[in-house]
Amino acid sequence: MGKRMFTGLQPSGQSLHIGNYLSAIKGVLALQDTHECILCVVDYHAITVPYDPNVLRRFTLNIATEYLAAGVDPERVTMMVQSDVPEHTELAWLMGCLMPVPKFEQLPTYKDKRARYGTASFGLLAYPILMAADILIYKAHTVPVGRDQLPHIEFAREVARKFNHTFGETFPEPEARINAGAYIPSLDGKGAMSKSAKNGSIDLSDTANTVQDKLARAVTDPARVRRTDPGEPHNCPVYAIHVCYTPQGMLAQLAQGCREAAIGCLECKRILAQEIISDLAPLQARRRELLARPQRVREILAQGAATARPRARETLSEVRQRMGLD
Ligand code: TRP
Repeated sequence: MGKRMFTGLQPSGQSLHIGNYLSAIKGVLALQDTHECILCVVDYHAITVPYDPNVLRRFTLNIATEYLAAGVDPERVTMMVQSDVPEHTELAWLMGCLMPVPKFEQLPTYKDKRARYGTASFGLLAYPILMAADILIYKAHTVPVGRDQLPHIEFAREVARKFNHTFGETFPEPEARINAGAYIPSLDGKGAMSKSAKNGSIDLSDTANTVQDKLARAVTDPARVRRTDPGEPHNCPVYAIHVCYTPQGMLAQLAQGCREAAIGCLECKRILAQEIISDLAPLQARRRELLARPQRVREILAQGAATARPRARETLSEVRQRMGLD
């Protein structure tokens, strides 16, 4: 142990899809064994743009449920809600006093959202300092994030450097760990798997029938118009997903079968459907259990906050002392 990992989860109502699972979630699960892990549902970030309180409440519980179902072990991982540990916001205020306004205005995520909503709240401008505080309050070393978050991590590193330089060595510079375990194409062959394309994603909540139906409709190598046309697996989104699920030996057979037109796309999809369905089964069983007992998820989050809070307080008092606020 020794190394600490922190990441923030946006409250979201969606059931995650296998693309999220194979990149972001598996990345986090892998770190459970080697790092002290803290997962934080970032509700204070979610309110920086217009939102509905009832929806937020529901989404906060939902994202926690999804991660637990996917295999986050609450015995080993601290999972909590950001607003349950108000020390994050206090640290954000202190750190905010170190950073010049133009730095905030330059961030691409800020510019994008301001353009999308036509205006920006002060909270939206302050978003990156709260994110820096989330990370620094636990002196985290490793931060798994999507590529779009890199400017925010760079900002957090600057905050750490600036603080250390001004008030004395206090924080490690956190490092981003890009969630890029695998590139999962959309089933419609257009870009990465996402929820926006109809039938473009296989969701963690999909039943066996739905998985089969979605795969049956999935795009394959356009060269395989007829069953007898040979194909090239590397032009096929279904094959790209096979790579993530299917054991080596079978995979090689499928690739060869495709190139020689010895196997049809339907058969190849049927095999993949079986692999995905059995991979999802334990996760779906846990998901059903948790959905039936939302109180259990709330308890896990409360326990997470109880574990995180003394740690956050410790850093905060160190910072207050260094800043002459004790
Ligand atoms: N901004 C991140 C996102 O949209 C979420 C987040 C908030 C986060 N605080 C964090 C991620 C701290 C990593 C570390 O995905």
